[in-house]
Amino acid sequence: MSPRQNSDVFAVFVLDISRLFLSYPQTKTYFSHFDLGSGSHDLQVHGGKVLGAIGEATKHLDNLDEALSKLSDLHAYNLRVDPGNFRLLSHTIQVTLAAHFQADFDATAQAAWDKFLAAISTVLTSKYR
Ligand code: HEM
Repeated sequence: MSPRQNSDVFAVFVLDISRLFLSYPQTKTYFSHFDLGSGSHDLQVHGGKVLGAIGEATKHLDNLDEALSKLSDLHAYNLRVDPGNFRLLSHTIQVTLAAHFQADFDATAQAAWDKFLAAISTVLTSKYR
């Protein structure tokens, strides 16, 4: 299961984004205006947005800088998300995939996802300085 085969992945993670807040409570500080109850409407909508952006990124692997430029501005200038949180989200996505797609999420798939999410995180944290 590569990052390009993403429709099942999307459905799963939209339901599972609360894992980020449960495993890493410090990430909740950015979402004080959200209902963080597992499966809440806020989380479903937000999970859909995040995965929509990741899905879009799969179509621009050779030009992530440009494709994610607006999101990079948003996270650096408006939201001011601490860069360390991107590793936490990337890890959470991979744990979610491993839990739901045990047979398919082998070491090769993990390596591909890790590299892809790291590339996205690099772009989204590139404008902090
Ligand atoms: C908003 C993507 C990482 C905090 C968003 C939006 C997208 C997105 C698509 C919605 C933008 C819009 O409505 O125009 C991503 C991606 C990430 C990532 C692809 C990394 C793979 C993070 C991390 C945090 C974070 C690590 C903090 C722990 C937020 C917040 C919002 C937001 C607070 C605004 C939520 C709202 O008020 O609706 N992100 N994000 N993001 N993101 Fe991220």
